[in-house]
Amino acid sequence: MGIWRYDGTASSDDRRETETGFQPVGVDMGELRGTHVPVLLERCLELLAPALGRGGRTVHVDATLGLAGHAEAVLRAHPETVLIGLDRDTEALAHARARLAPFADRTHLVHAVYDELPEVLDRLGYPAIDGILFDLGVSSLQLDAPDRGFAYAQDAPLDMRMDQTRGVTAEEVVNTYSHPDLARVLRVYGEEKFAGRIASAIIRERERVRITSSARLAELVRDSIPAPARRTGGHPAKRTFQALRIEVNKELAALETALPAALDKLTVGGRMVVLSYHSLEDRLTKLALADRVRSKGPVDLPVELPGSGPTFRLLSRGAELAGEGEVAANPRAASVRLRAAERLDPDAEQQRGTDRERYRRRVKAMHQPGAVSGGSGKDPQPTSGDGTGTDVEGEGHDY
Ligand SMILES: C[S@@+](CC[C@H](N)C(=O)[O-])C[C@H]1O[C@@H](n2cnc3c(N)ncnc32)[C@H](O)[C@@H]1O
Repeated sequence: MGIWRYDGTASSDDRRETETGFQPVGVDMGELRGTHVPVLLERCLELLAPALGRGGRTVHVDATLGLAGHAEAVLRAHPETVLIGLDRDTEALAHARARLAPFADRTHLVHAVYDELPEVLDRLGYPAIDGILFDLGVSSLQLDAPDRGFAYAQDAPLDMRMDQTRGVTAEEVVNTYSHPDLARVLRVYGEEKFAGRIASAIIRERERVRITSSARLAELVRDSIPAPARRTGGHPAKRTFQALRIEVNKELAALETALPAALDKLTVGGRMVVLSYHSLEDRLTKLALADRVRSKGPVDLPVELPGSGPTFRLLSRGAELAGEGEVAANPRAASVRLRAAERLDPDAEQQRGTDRERYRRRVKAMHQPGAVSGGSGKDPQPTSGDGTGTDVEGEGHDY
C-alpha cells in the first residue's frame, strides 16, 4: 500500500496502485544513456501549477537544475515565474545556462549545494518562494561522462564528485577508509549484503597497489561476490558505486538540512515536489514532510490550539511511481519515488478545525433522545471534502 504509479496521462484521481511492498531503489549507474529525459515531468508540472500560476510574479527554485529539463518546462508553462536554479556541478550549470538562454531575464543560475538555499535566496533578495523541485541524484551528463568515474560500465579515474572543484574523490575513499567505515558505507548507502567481503577485497588490493580506476574497482567487487549472487540483482558493482557516490558527495547530509530549510521558505499555497531514487532519500523526504503535516497539539483536544496545527498538507499518496510506459522509455524513471506537499494557511486550518468540531457536535446531537434533525432542519454537511482539509491525504506508509 502507499505506492502509486503515475502513468503520465491520468488525472491525479485516476492513479493506479500497482505495488504493494518495499522495492529497494537505486539508479543503475552502468547503463549509458545518450539523452536526458526529465522524470515525471507532467506530474511535476501538474503539482507545481497551482503554486506558480496564481497570478503575478512567482518564484520557483529548481534545487537540482541538471540539464534544466524540468526548469525549462516550468519557465515555458509559467511566463511570470522567476527561476532560481542551483547545481553543485559547474558542467551541468554551463549546459543549463545555454538551454535557458531564452529566459535569461527571469533566471538566476547559481553554483551551490542545495543546503545553501537560504543564503542563496538572501543574496538574491528573495525572502520566500512559491515552488521548489528536488530531482535527486546524478544526471545523465554525469553518468555518461567518460572521465567522471560514476559508471562501472566504463573505465575512468575514480572521481565521482558532482562538484569537481572541491571535496574528496572516490579514489581517496577506497584507498583510505578503514574496513569498518568502508563496510558501513557499502551496507547503508548501497544496501549491499556482501559489504564486509567487498571491503576486505578492497583493503587487500590497496595493500598491493593503489586502486585508481572504476574498471578495477568493478572487477574487485564482482570477484568478491559469491557466484550465485552475481547472477541476480543487476551488475554486481551497481550497489557499491551508488554507495561511494552518496558518500563522496555527502548526499544525505545535504538533503537532511535542505528539506526543512526549503519547506520554511515556501509561502502559503507554495509547493514542494521531491523525486527520490534511493530508499534513504525517500525516507528523509517522508520524515521531513511528516513533521509538518501532523498536529503538534494535545491529541485529546477537539480543536487545534493556535499555532499547533499542521503547516503542510500532502499532495501525494504515499510515494508515487512512474508509469510503465515512462519506465520503458526512460530507465532512470524505474526507481523514482515522488512526494509533494503544500504549505497551509494556519488561520484557515484553524477555522476548518473549528468547523469540523461544530459539525461533529451537531451530528452527535442528532443521536440524542428527542433530536429530530441536528437543530437546523438540514442535514449537516462536512465543510471540506473528507473533512481533513486534505484532498489527497498521504498514507505515510513505511515501505
Ligand atoms: C537528476 S539531475 C537533475 C536533472 C534535472 N531535473 C533535469 O531535468 O535536467 C540531478 C542534478 O542535481 C545536482 N545535485 C545533486 N545533489 C546536489 C546538491 N546537494 N546540491 C546541488 N545540486 C545537486 C547534480 O549535480 C545533478 O546535476
